[in-house]
Amino acid sequence: IVAAFQPKALAGKSVLVTAGPTFEPIDPVRGITNLSSGKMGYAIARAAREAGAEVTLVSGPTALETPFGVQRINVQTAQQMHDVVMARAAAQDVFVAVAAVADWRVRNVAAQKIKKTAESRTPALEFDENVDILAAVAALDKKPYCVGFAAESENLVAHGEAKRRKKNIPLLVGNIGHQTFGQDTNELVLFDDHGHTPLPHADKQTLARQLIGEIAARLTTSQS
Ligand code: CTP
Ligand code: CA
Repeated sequence: IVAAFQPKALAGKSVLVTAGPTFEPIDPVRGITNLSSGKMGYAIARAAREAGAEVTLVSGPTALETPFGVQRINVQTAQQMHDVVMARAAAQDVFVAVAAVADWRVRNVAAQKIKKTAESRTPALEFDENVDILAAVAALDKKPYCVGFAAESENLVAHGEAKRRKKNIPLLVGNIGHQTFGQDTNELVLFDDHGHTPLPHADKQTLARQLIGEIAARLTTSQS
């Protein structure tokens, strides 16, 4: 009963979350994507809403249900995700970039389905680099509190610290790629100005609630 009278940690705040993979087309029936399930990002969107925030979830293709009370905007490509995020970012209090955004898109997308030819030559794909959505938000004049995620396959501490500095964000959450993609549990390490702090191995919803608590605490400090 007493808990019902305590103000929620993110009451009155708006939170924008990206989640899931992106899908970069090769031709009208094929594309390039990755193993992100969206579970961590959806768990964070759910936890932010539970904490009282108004939550917008910009999602690549996933098989997940929209968390209760969350506004979800579906996208496929990194460019679409970028456009949706940039149209909203300045009006947000918090931006959590959890999506596994494709680093490259196919430059020579075929207008029609690529067919096997008589000569049986394999198609050659060319790539362009996608815009870094998190770095673009972090570079805004009027910007939300930015939180990044990094899935690394090795050297998590060194890569995490370097990535946080490169993206110029106050908080980066690191994990080891193969321990998170598609899994229900995860192991997170928080990187901030004070160094790095591991969170104990737990299910993604538990970790998401802890992370929202950490973000809310930092939001109060950074605005006071
Ligand atoms: N990110 C993004 N837009 C991109 C690439 C990444 O917003 N085009 C965000 C991710 O959502 C994540 C963070 O940046 O929050 C780190 O993503 P990651 O792929 O680990 O970093 P990169 O800078 O792309 O570096 P690399 O893949 O080379 O390790
Ligand atoms: Ca990347």
